[in-house]
Amino acid sequence: MRATFNIQRLRPTSVPQCALIVFLAVLCISAGLQAQTKPVDGEGHQWWQHAVFYELYPRSFADSNNDGVGDMNGIASKLDYLKSLGVDAIWITPCFPSPQVDFGYDVSDYENIDPMYGTLADFDHLQREANKRGIHIILDFVMNHSSDQHAWFTESRSSRENPKRDWYVWRDGEGPNQPNNWVAIFGGSTWELDPKTGQYYYHMFYKQQPDLNWRNPAVEKAMFDATRWWYKRGVSGFRLDAVDTLFEDPDLRDNPVLPGQNAYGNPNEENKYNTKLPELHGVLQRLRQVADENNAVLIGETWTKDADELKAYYGSHSKELQMPMDFMFTTVNKLSPPDFRKQIAAVDSAGWPVFVLSNHDIVRSYVRYGDGVHNDAIAKVMAGMYLTLRGTPIMYYGEEVGMTNNDPTRKEDVHDPIGKLGWPKERGRDGERTPMQWNATANAGFSKVKPWLPVPESSKSHNVATELNDNESVLNFYKKVLALRHENTALLDGDYVALNESDPNVLSYLRRYKNEAVLVVLNMSGTEQKVSFDLAAQGFSAANASTLLTTLNSHPQ
Ligand code: GLC
Repeated sequence: MRATFNIQRLRPTSVPQCALIVFLAVLCISAGLQAQTKPVDGEGHQWWQHAVFYELYPRSFADSNNDGVGDMNGIASKLDYLKSLGVDAIWITPCFPSPQVDFGYDVSDYENIDPMYGTLADFDHLQREANKRGIHIILDFVMNHSSDQHAWFTESRSSRENPKRDWYVWRDGEGPNQPNNWVAIFGGSTWELDPKTGQYYYHMFYKQQPDLNWRNPAVEKAMFDATRWWYKRGVSGFRLDAVDTLFEDPDLRDNPVLPGQNAYGNPNEENKYNTKLPELHGVLQRLRQVADENNAVLIGETWTKDADELKAYYGSHSKELQMPMDFMFTTVNKLSPPDFRKQIAAVDSAGWPVFVLSNHDIVRSYVRYGDGVHNDAIAKVMAGMYLTLRGTPIMYYGEEVGMTNNDPTRKEDVHDPIGKLGWPKERGRDGERTPMQWNATANAGFSKVKPWLPVPESSKSHNVATELNDNESVLNFYKKVLALRHENTALLDGDYVALNESDPNVLSYLRRYKNEAVLVVLNMSGTEQKVSFDLAAQGFSAANASTLLTTLNSHPQ
């Protein structure tokens, strides 16, 4: 039967002149009267495919002992909040002992908790409390490098004959020069001369983060054992840090030099010989076996240039990462339906999509997409999009209350070393790592003392306590979408079907599951839009449609 489904009134009740009008309409439509009978895992989906993940930066989430830095007990105290928000799994960025040169991404002991965050007993308490609420814990696995203060590196650098020498990547110089032209991601050469033994060690990031030698089976064993150690404590998986940088060309061929310079004044180059080497897939396959033995999930920090590269991280027969993150999505930095459509279609065909809007390395989505006037409305459109797509979303703490970037304005205020090295071109990542905004009191309720990073002025209005009392808040919008996501079969299990693909202003799609579907309509333009849908081909008619969620009648900002 042919049917046309029209939505004609697509505007808020009161719209400021020349304003950006953004709204979301989610409608549930069905072809027949059949009720949802499928269990949530009826399609063979695993828990992480129906879960909402939430990344939190432990330094900045909640400070239980009022020392200005967040901690394990702080996280534990907020589990009820996370549960009520609709979070099923938390990924905690590195909380292991560390000199904190890279704020935890320089690990000096893989099997402990940094005293700044508490003790192993505090972690176990957090794990137990999370379990009680059905929340999974995911830890960060910093596998490419350790801290230079790790005992392994102390031994390795002590002499050329030390049994741990080959645990890191040591090379002779080219005469008086570094072994080759490779430039570190955080600036300068990737090679650091160690005067004691007269050789260079390799570091893709800071010199305090020497790269582990993944060609050495002993390294692989020790690192895999570290994951086993945490699995035994109950963690449900790992997010694999900087996974594409595990291997380097054994011949150390020079990378091709590109035009221009990076923020640190080094020549740009293509990382042809020190990223994405094929050997890394063997490691991922074996690491996956360990994960499978422990019913765990592996998430990848997988920066890729296209869907084919992303596909490679799932592995042939899906034997590598279950959840490689799609960062191409984060490079669509404008409210552009055509660009999002293209990106969504690409990742949808690559495997089970994993969507993120921002994280601790990326400017917050609230400011990346915001126009400075309608940021709350835009934040809802972005949430309405990525939380209703087929795949697993990974939220970043605070996005649900509309946290903004609070970037330092003076070099002397910068904490993140790359902000000091690259100032003013690179101001570092402090801005997206500021304390979670819990309420409108001093320090946004994060701590009773001055926090390690300052909270922005907007924390007075954009915080959990204030927004819980406002039905139209960004937070309440997130709660509604997340609740829908958990209960609606089409959103859980449905296909993604792009609609009206030539519309430059409105992004529309169906999530279709058997004889039910959810229609998502997102106006990303600055003007009122009229859209119509012919869903006959999909077998749906307007007669059976009902509105699940809309911002159509929201008050203007
Ligand atoms: C990853 C982390 C980043 C860190 C880097 C080095 O990209 O997300 O925060 O600085 O790895 O470990």
